[in-house]
This record gives sequence, C-alpha cells and structure tokens, in this order.
Amino acid sequence: MIALILIGGLGTRLRPFTCDIPKPLLPVVNRPFLEYQFSILKKHGIRDVVLCTSYKPEVFRKALGDGRTLGLRLRYCHETRPLGTGGAIKNAQHLLAGETVLALNGDVLNALDVTAFLRQHRKNQADLSIALTRVKDPTLYGVVETEPSGRIRKFVEKPSWDELESNTINAGAYLFEPSVLSRVPPGVNYSLERSLFPQLLAERARLFGYVSGGYWIDIGTVEKYLQVHLDILGGQTPFGKKGLSKGTGVKIGRDVTLDHHASSIVLGRGTVVKDFARLSGHICVGQRCEIGKGASLEDCVVLDGTHVGDGARLERCVVGPGVRIGAHAVLGRGVALAGNSQVKPYSQL
Ligand code: GDD
Ligand code: MG
Repeated sequence: MIALILIGGLGTRLRPFTCDIPKPLLPVVNRPFLEYQFSILKKHGIRDVVLCTSYKPEVFRKALGDGRTLGLRLRYCHETRPLGTGGAIKNAQHLLAGETVLALNGDVLNALDVTAFLRQHRKNQADLSIALTRVKDPTLYGVVETEPSGRIRKFVEKPSWDELESNTINAGAYLFEPSVLSRVPPGVNYSLERSLFPQLLAERARLFGYVSGGYWIDIGTVEKYLQVHLDILGGQTPFGKKGLSKGTGVKIGRDVTLDHHASSIVLGRGTVVKDFARLSGHICVGQRCEIGKGASLEDCVVLDGTHVGDGARLERCVVGPGVRIGAHAVLGRGVALAGNSQVKPYSQL
C-alpha cells in the first residue's frame, strides 16, 4: 500500500520554531518528527511514501532525499501554492496507482495500528475511513459523530462549544478508495475537512470511523510541542524510554545534578554540561549545546547549538536552535525562543 503524508502547512501556531524548519521536520527528542511516522509505516510493511509539500519543499528534499537511507521510497509532490488538505491529495493522484491509500497529517504522533485500520476499512466496504480519537477539547479539531455500526453521521471541523455533540475527533489518518478523489476538483484549494467529508456524507457515501486507542497528540502548537517531549521522556508513549541517555562526545562537569530517577534526560551529541548545573524533570538537550555553570533546567527542550549562560534558570520552555541565553537569565513557563534571539542579563543591556 502507498502512504501519503500532508506536510505543506505553514506551522503558524508553532512559530518561531517553524520560521526555519517546517513542522514535520522539527526535532522531537532529537529526531525529525517524520521519523516517528516512518517507523510506524515500516512496522506495517509500507515503504512507498508520497510527501505533499508546499512550505519549504527544499528543506524536506535536503533532509530526507529519496528515502533510501531510511529504508523507504520517498516521492515528492509539490504545490506551488497551497492547495489545502484535499487539493494536495488530488494533486498527487497520478502517483497513487489507483489503489487504496493511507493518508496522514504530518504532525500527529499516534501508534496507529495500520493493519487493523485497513482490515476494518475492507470489512466495512468503506469509501473512506477516518481514524478517530477522544480528546478533552474537541473544538480544536474535526469532530466526528458516528452510528453504533461505526458509520459516520456528521463531520464538523473546529466547531464552537455550543455545536459540540461528541468528544470524538478526526485523528488525522485516513484510508480512502481512489473513487473518492474524483469528487475533488483539480488545481484549486480544497479542504478535506470542510468540503470533501461533508459533501461525501451528503451523498450518502460509505464513511466509517475507526477508534485508534493509545497515545495521540497533534504537535501543532508550542504547548503541544513541549508536551510531546514531556510525554515521550516520561514514558507515556510507545516511542521512548526512561533514564539518562547521552550522545557521543557529551561532556559533564563536576557536581552536576542529573535528576533522572523519576524522569528522563536526553543529551545530544557533543553537548557540554558545565560544573554545578542542575537538570531536573524531563529534559531534552539537542546536539552541540552548552549548559552553563550552575544553570538550572526543569522540564525543558533545548534545541541544537544553543548556549545557556552560567546561572540561567529555565522552566517549562522551548529554546533554540542556535539561541544564546545570557548568564542568569530567567525563562519561565511558556517561553518559546528561537533563531538568533539573544537573552542577555540586565547588566549587559
Ligand atoms: N501539502 C499540503 N498543502 N499540506 C497541508 C496544507 C496544504 O495546503 N495545509 C495543511 N497541510 C498539512 C499540514 O502540514 C498538516 O500536516 C496537516 O495538513 C493538517 O494541517 P493542520 O494545519 O495541522 O490542521 P489542524 O491540526 O488544524 O487540523 C487537522 O488535524 C486534526 C488532527 O490533528 C484536521 O484534519 C482536523 O480535522 C484534525 O482533527
Ligand atoms: Mg495539526
């Protein structure tokens, strides 16, 4: 089976990190996010993957190439202007060989059982199947109502609270038959969620939901990007392990506190942690970073090449790549600092 991944979004809710790196390539515990999706596809025997690009296509080609080193065959289908989720798939139709296709949003982490999903799709003789999950705030997603048989009755993208009838949402994975694509007009911006799904339902097409259990997150906001790290490092997903993990060339100074007994600390290749620094909670530090003398970090993500000054204090924030944080700076909850931003101590301003 061929898989298609939608990776053309601008990632606006994840700025500033997506100003240089598109969302599907942002590191998650020091691996490009898409690698998690690739590992799931490979587990289910899928090696043929079409990537639908729009924003920063050259960054994807440079990072992933033809996929050979990843054990995949990657093909790219580029939109010179964004065609929306439905238009992007239509644009790739010529690469899909007229078979059942698995389509994924490129920003969802979920250990989807693709084999069981396909089995259910076939059993239901569905035109289109949508993986579903349950969340606390469904208004941020596409809300799906199903009949007891699993047949989808209603799909409403990002409803307001007063329109809500269900906490079951579109998990961002679909199986569709090629016939469904004939409903999508070519060359125009067209949304799966706002146009195709409601249209197919109005035509009484066979749309079925498949509830995918287990861990699920859309990493599309800074808050969720930090959360996916905390969840992986906390052992709450099938994607990581607890404890201390150090890349090659990591240097740790004297009297450094690495409090990883109830949590995880990951230090990327070539990172230096200087004397008396204190790392607690869930911490992911990228490659070639420097954590200054006496600096203190709790529940943080520090991306590649970032320099945290002596005595700086960071809590529940995401910084980097390539950021220089001055000595004794204090970065509290929710801080998102990227690019060449500098945080200097008051004395140097
Ligand atoms: N190629 C291409 N072209 N890809 C696009 C385009 C486009 O014009 N627009 C968005 N995408 C990609 C994004 O890169 C992302 O991987 C995926 O499509 C979904 O877009 P998001 O912008 O992340 O959508 P969302 O999170 O608000 O909502 C979607 O995902 C939810 C689950 O996480 C919807 O599908 C919801 O119904 C769903 O519940
Ligand atoms: Mg999303």
